Amino acid sequence: MRTYHQIKDLRAHLRVSWQSGRVIGFVPTMGALHDGHRSLIRKARTECDEVVVSIFVNPTQFGPQEDYSKYPRTLEADSRMAQELGVDAMFAPPAEVMYPFGPDATVEVGPLTTHWEGACRPGHFRGVTTVCAKLFCIIQPRYAYFGMKDYQQYRVVERMVADLHMGLSVVPVPTVREADGLAMSSRNAYLSPEHRATATCLHQALNKAAALHSAGERDAAILREAMHARLSGERDVEIVYADVADAQTLEPVSAVTGPAVALGAIRLGSTRLIDNIVLP
Ligand code: PAF
Repeated sequence: MRTYHQIKDLRAHLRVSWQSGRVIGFVPTMGALHDGHRSLIRKARTECDEVVVSIFVNPTQFGPQEDYSKYPRTLEADSRMAQELGVDAMFAPPAEVMYPFGPDATVEVGPLTTHWEGACRPGHFRGVTTVCAKLFCIIQPRYAYFGMKDYQQYRVVERMVADLHMGLSVVPVPTVREADGLAMSSRNAYLSPEHRATATCLHQALNKAAALHSAGERDAAILREAMHARLSGERDVEIVYADVADAQTLEPVSAVTGPAVALGAIRLGSTRLIDNIVLP
């Protein structure tokens, strides 16, 4: 596996694949790779001829008070994992390679970004879609693999790709969880042992909503109430949101009449965690 830091070098490597019609699968990441990323890469490896992984802590998707500077950077360990998983090329550009003019040209997806993460983190999705658009232009993959833990991100990127006719497919990959249900995330590394034990409450709250939904409950207020009830007694937990949305539009719903998703975000000390469960 080769690691590239410059666009022209990665492109020189990919030219053969583009010309010979080899199927390129792309896994965009911010590094600090864990089992969630492992499952994205494995899926790409089984479905594609050439697998490219990017490692780029994208400054434009972090707010001024967020964790950009302390976000874990573990390039060596990431390279080892990628190598073991049979990745063909890793792309780890410096910020000035990705943003040679600063964030001049940006990509924004409208209504899907109105609620949830979009509402809590202004500009976040603009940063995500802009960097994904750049990466898709550079790599020109046939498939790009996204974890369902960031459900709204997956839907927003999927819409960008469809609306801008980018000519690739966004493949959702199920969330990988720890044994106690906590969704794998690079940010879990920030949790103290005590907060790590508490963190599973988010998954449990979402499971409560899913259990009520499977039992026939369709009133979103009741599902929301059940999630809040599970989270509200927990020490150091601040509920950012725990609610039910339409699975396609991400609009909040009052009654679950079609595919929906229960989504939650909590702050646990200084760590922000998100998770979701699809209500079929
Ligand atoms: O999910 C992530 O790790 C990031 O948002 C992504 C898709 C790599 C864009 O920076």
